[in-house]
Amino acid sequence: MMAEKNGFDTFMLKEIHDQPRAYQDTMRGRINEGKEIVLPGMTLSAEQIRGLKQIHMVACGTAYHAALVGKTVIERLTRIPVEVDLASEYRYRMPVIRENTLVIAVSQSGETADTLAAMREARQCGARVMAITNVIGSSVAREADDVLFTLAGPEIAVASTKAYSSQLIAFYLLGLFMAQSMETLDQASLIELIAMLERLPSQVEEMLEGLEPVRQIAEQISNQNHLFFIGRGLDYSLAMEASLKLKEISYIHSEAYAAGELKHGSLALIEEGTPVIALATQELLLEKTASNIKEVKARGAYVIALALEGQTELEKTADQVIYVPRTYSLLAPALAVVPLQLLAYYTASIRGNDVDKPRNLAKSVTVE
Ligand code: G6P
Repeated sequence: MMAEKNGFDTFMLKEIHDQPRAYQDTMRGRINEGKEIVLPGMTLSAEQIRGLKQIHMVACGTAYHAALVGKTVIERLTRIPVEVDLASEYRYRMPVIRENTLVIAVSQSGETADTLAAMREARQCGARVMAITNVIGSSVAREADDVLFTLAGPEIAVASTKAYSSQLIAFYLLGLFMAQSMETLDQASLIELIAMLERLPSQVEEMLEGLEPVRQIAEQISNQNHLFFIGRGLDYSLAMEASLKLKEISYIHSEAYAAGELKHGSLALIEEGTPVIALATQELLLEKTASNIKEVKARGAYVIALALEGQTELEKTADQVIYVPRTYSLLAPALAVVPLQLLAYYTASIRGNDVDKPRNLAKSVTVE
């Protein structure tokens, strides 16, 4: 079947707008009426989950950034230690795979050569392998012991959007599923988190209706040569994805930095007018991020902050603030990613780039 743009100018824009549906489809049938996570077909038993000593995640590109969010989600919900590796690095660093290690391979296409190779290496070392992928029947899906499919639908644009955000949803489902088996969360907290998870599709919908400010910011940054994304905790993981998205399609150089680390070197690059996009959705880290914003402002940066609705105190320090609907900190990346995808999208279109087919890149990389 020919993929359609459904009236949008590009596949990327269509796929950004597909996200509420992609979230719903990825959750459908996996949350029962009693607000429990059910993962039909999952062979990993509750006992095996309770026995897990560690989790390794392997992935490339955007999927790697989703895994970084996944690490925080799973560690917070289950207290199982998680390591995340670029698949191309994993094989060659002689990973320590002990008994009761679960390796999770994350791949939109399920065909990325580096990810497949890392997964095979892990199996050979005796790990149990789970795949999070968007393509039924893909190599990654066929070779894994268990598969958690994202149901984002076909993604055509080279720059991944809905596949990434659906991978976040898969990690929330998996983390909550494990927490249920391990009883690491009390019942009331589990139910509340699940209820907030179910609100995400309509919150994304709401955001997609009010993003004119993002287009204006894109106008401002479209003639820049380089910029920074900063954040702490989950905002740092998201900053890496936002930076990759912007580089991939706008060809503007950008760097993602842990907000607290900037002062240890890269602060030297901030000049009068350097744009800094400060992600500040993590309420417990807000004060610290605000002081990092002051640091860059004092060196002349032009700061655009991204915060949860109601966090208006950032207006005192940042030049502009974009708001995302309120949710739990753990779930915030699934909302905050949307304006960042659009920022990359608008910036690239203003620069006249072929947004769906960026230079030098391929949708699926089947060479190591
Ligand atoms: C390519 C694509 C990226 C993608 C990466 C991993 O480099 O251009 O968008 O994130 O491969 O792809 P996968 O299909 O394994 O998620």
